Amino acid sequence: MHHPVLLAQVIDGLDITPEKKYIDATIGEGGHVMAILRKGGCVLGIDADNRQLTYLQYLKEQYPRLTLIHGNFANIESIARENGFFPVDGILFDLGLSWEQLQSLGRGLSFKKYDEVLDMRLDLATDYTAADLLNKSSRSELNELFMRNAEEPASDRLAQEIMNVRRTHAINIVGDLVNIIRKVTPDSWEKTAVRIFQALRIEVNREFENLKAGLEGAKNVISKTGRIAVISFHSREDRIVKQFIQKNHLLPITKKAIPGSRDKSFERSAKLRIFSL
Ligand SMILES: C[S@@+](CC[C@H](N)C(=O)[O-])C[C@H]1O[C@@H](n2cnc3c(N)ncnc32)[C@H](O)[C@@H]1O
Repeated sequence: MHHPVLLAQVIDGLDITPEKKYIDATIGEGGHVMAILRKGGCVLGIDADNRQLTYLQYLKEQYPRLTLIHGNFANIESIARENGFFPVDGILFDLGLSWEQLQSLGRGLSFKKYDEVLDMRLDLATDYTAADLLNKSSRSELNELFMRNAEEPASDRLAQEIMNVRRTHAINIVGDLVNIIRKVTPDSWEKTAVRIFQALRIEVNREFENLKAGLEGAKNVISKTGRIAVISFHSREDRIVKQFIQKNHLLPITKKAIPGSRDKSFERSAKLRIFSL
């Protein structure tokens, strides 16, 4: 069962009005978009994972006001222009991947799927996989990657152990990487694994670069009175959003980011920022 994160706060914050135009830049399983459609909004839904769009065909049949596009939100401006959603009254980014995707994509995104290949690409046109990074990067590059994307305290020791293992065999499947993490941080290996898998996924899919490009595009697509909502799950993502708002002198709707509920495991690390031009 999919639970949309901070649903009521997103719908209130975007001030959904019948007939107005919205973009859901990360349509996913359709949790947020369903609420926007029920309130009468016209929606352009984008997702980089084509399986999400195939799954959502049923919703399109129910609501002809929904347009579905397979693409990267880094290109939100051209996608919006090409599909007649320019300007729009509200834009939502619900970042990262859904729990369902992490479990079912079959590309080594979950540290619990020991036999899966360490691919991690959302879009198979992306030129390198997580295994490429692990097998071809230098020790200092890996150390830097784990620091930059995960603020990982054991980053240097992990990078060193990856070098040691590579002398005998390549690191190709989830189990190979989990063994390294268990060896280096035996007492807290699950927490380390969460951070390291997320760090690799962010790098492979260029998540921070896409977010920066997506925010720039959204600023050009939003109407003068429209609002942009961003849900992030990582401190660096939230920092990118916060700095973007400051640098462009945008107007935050709430002074501080709205945190997800501590009582709901799926939104514990979420932060929502809503702003306008
Ligand atoms: C957290 S889920 C969104 C869940 C959705 N709000 C819902 O309620 O069902 C994030 C979605 O964004 C997609 N995604 C991640 N990066 C993307 C990108 N750069 N461009 C477009 N979609 C992306 C993922 O494939 C995933 O379906």
